[in-house]
Amino acid sequence: MIPYGKQTLDADDIEAVVSVLRSDYLTTGPLVERFEHAFARVVGAPHAVAVSSGTAALHCAVAALGISPGDEVIVPPMTFAATANCVIYQGGVPVFADVAPDTLLISPEAVEACVTERTRAVIAVDYAGQPCDYQALGALCSNKGLALVADACHSLGATRDARPVGTLADLTAFSFHPVKPITTGEGGMVTTGDAAMATALRTIRNHGISADHRQRSEQCSWVYEITRTGFNYRLSDIHCALGLSQLGKLAAFTERRTQIAARYQEAFATSSVQPLALSPDASHSYHLFVIRLPAGMDRGVAFKRLHAAGVGVNVHYIPVYLHPLYRDLLGYGPGLCPNAEAAYERILSLPVFPSMTDRQVEDVICEVLKLTEDGATG
Ligand SMILES: Cc1ncc(COP(=O)(O)O)c(C=O)c1O
Repeated sequence: MIPYGKQTLDADDIEAVVSVLRSDYLTTGPLVERFEHAFARVVGAPHAVAVSSGTAALHCAVAALGISPGDEVIVPPMTFAATANCVIYQGGVPVFADVAPDTLLISPEAVEACVTERTRAVIAVDYAGQPCDYQALGALCSNKGLALVADACHSLGATRDARPVGTLADLTAFSFHPVKPITTGEGGMVTTGDAAMATALRTIRNHGISADHRQRSEQCSWVYEITRTGFNYRLSDIHCALGLSQLGKLAAFTERRTQIAARYQEAFATSSVQPLALSPDASHSYHLFVIRLPAGMDRGVAFKRLHAAGVGVNVHYIPVYLHPLYRDLLGYGPGLCPNAEAAYERILSLPVFPSMTDRQVEDVICEVLKLTEDGATG
């Protein structure tokens, strides 16, 4: 089976991890800062704070913004549930703004229509790896006094208006899950331009404690204070060693993903399969390559046939508010975001990962085109 995504690891990644196991620190050691500094440099952000997952990155971001019970945060429905769940963790209310039908990126007009006096922030998601229109979203948020968070769990390595993802919002959350642009196994990062925010994020990821274990030992002190509600969202040195090693390969990984995407674009250009629209103002990380199947084709049949042929396609995503939690807790239901619901019926994510071979890419294209020849209607 060709998976829709997977990690690309070499011998030097493995060696980097093994060498930490022989060192003094397994966690809260020097590699955490080294990974943070290297990451900040790569994305051009003043501050980067390493955390234990993309979900933790989002939770730390909304906690640092002070999202509290009753606060509303506007999110898109075409995302992994973590984007909205982090608002619920804080007792806030995720409010869903529909996506543009061609890109499946949150629509600034839809966001504007969702703003109420209780709105505190917007979390935009760079769906599939294409950055949102942060100029429009940023202008809207500063007009209305809202914070802007980028969920960039898909888009490390991408740019918008020639600026790297990681610098386009007040806070940006990244994931290092194995299918993501680089991996640490599990892991995440938050970037920000605001030094006070970075300090808050560091405190929140470590139980709300003002100084971490290594800082106390350097100061020869056992004293620490818990200054706010926090969590154990630390990323270990073992993870950071892998992150540092992977970060050096980000440009090559993005280039290979872009090559694969270009081949898909070319192969489907004259078919009834429609890739998502691309903005001329953005470069893409191609975490996912999403196609829209032609109207009338049965997506369930297409999914099963592709899997039977060894092509591990996936579906990203069931609109978040249709999950039982969201229906039961917040009373949401079908009809809320028509563009997301219509897209959900027809999308498939095709395999794309740096170590995918040209042969595998051609096999995927061949199996997808076979579906369009007979219609996959049953
Ligand atoms: C858009 C988006 N946000 C957040 C997350 C959560 O990241 P993690 O799995 O690292 O917690 C994911 C991961 O799948 C994601 O795709």
